[in-house]
Amino acid sequence: MKLCLPTPLHRLDRAFPNHDVWIKRDDLTGFALGGNKTRKAAKLLEDAEGSDVLLTVGDTQSNHARVIAACAAQKGIECELFLTGPNPGRATSNLLLDRLAGASVRFVDDPDQREAAMNQRASELRIAGKKPYAIPLGGSNAIGASAFVEAAKEIDATDPATVVLASSSGGTYAGLMKGFEGAPIKLIGIRVDRDPDPEKRICEIVEGFDPSDVNLNSDFVGEDYAVPTREGMAAIRLLWQKEGVLLDPVYTGKAMAGLISLLERGELSGRIIFWHTGGTPSIFRYSATDLGVDDL
Ligand SMILES: Cc1ncc(COP(=O)(O)O)c(C=O)c1O
Repeated sequence: MKLCLPTPLHRLDRAFPNHDVWIKRDDLTGFALGGNKTRKAAKLLEDAEGSDVLLTVGDTQSNHARVIAACAAQKGIECELFLTGPNPGRATSNLLLDRLAGASVRFVDDPDQREAAMNQRASELRIAGKKPYAIPLGGSNAIGASAFVEAAKEIDATDPATVVLASSSGGTYAGLMKGFEGAPIKLIGIRVDRDPDPEKRICEIVEGFDPSDVNLNSDFVGEDYAVPTREGMAAIRLLWQKEGVLLDPVYTGKAMAGLISLLERGELSGRIIFWHTGGTPSIFRYSATDLGVDDL
């Protein structure tokens, strides 16, 4: 699996002509349409050496599942995904790419039961003599997060900055928090779901931090996970029209809406880096109406 690192870092001078806003293009990490999950998957795959089935869990349109399915396909091993049900009937966007990679998909209606279903299947496979490797939600364990401890080195951390990113299962935030430890870099995670105790979960992924060290903002989730917001769509339109950079309605659009709002309220200043975590394929699952543009 070949990653294109370091990813580019460039200024967003047309979208933000009056501010020092930069973008870290982790949407361009290079394998299976890129994104933060690709960095994590590379680390997890090293650890999975010798396995013959990769299993993971996620939302129906999980970016992480798409990348893991592609990793398994490239290695010529099997992939089993446990995604939130019900079965949508049509495979679109990331789910289409999962199927195209040859992954088998099992839908689990209760998201809290996905991990149990995966672990039970891993036990069955082990009994049958296979070598399964089960990956937690979002690849967010210490191994996955270690990719972001390394990724932090791609930023000049002697120059003060605020880094803004979308945060969900927490591995990306956790790795960057560890990577920027002691540096004059402030990290702001814009939440995109309402799962309980995100600060505690982040501190369970990397050692040496307390929940009070974690800086998450919950103001931009909107109605729910994966439900587009007006502000998120305005952010997507701005970056697409002014910079030719695509964001998505689930993660990066909401995170950019957070950055814009904090900037407008005077709560952000100096060098600001938006960490683009990818996820762009998910925009194609939405209709024009969902995204607030006129259909043809
Ligand atoms: C595009 C995108 N951005 C951000 C995130 C959040 O990353 P993490 O789960 O490490 O918090 C995800 C994870 O699902 C993602 O797919």
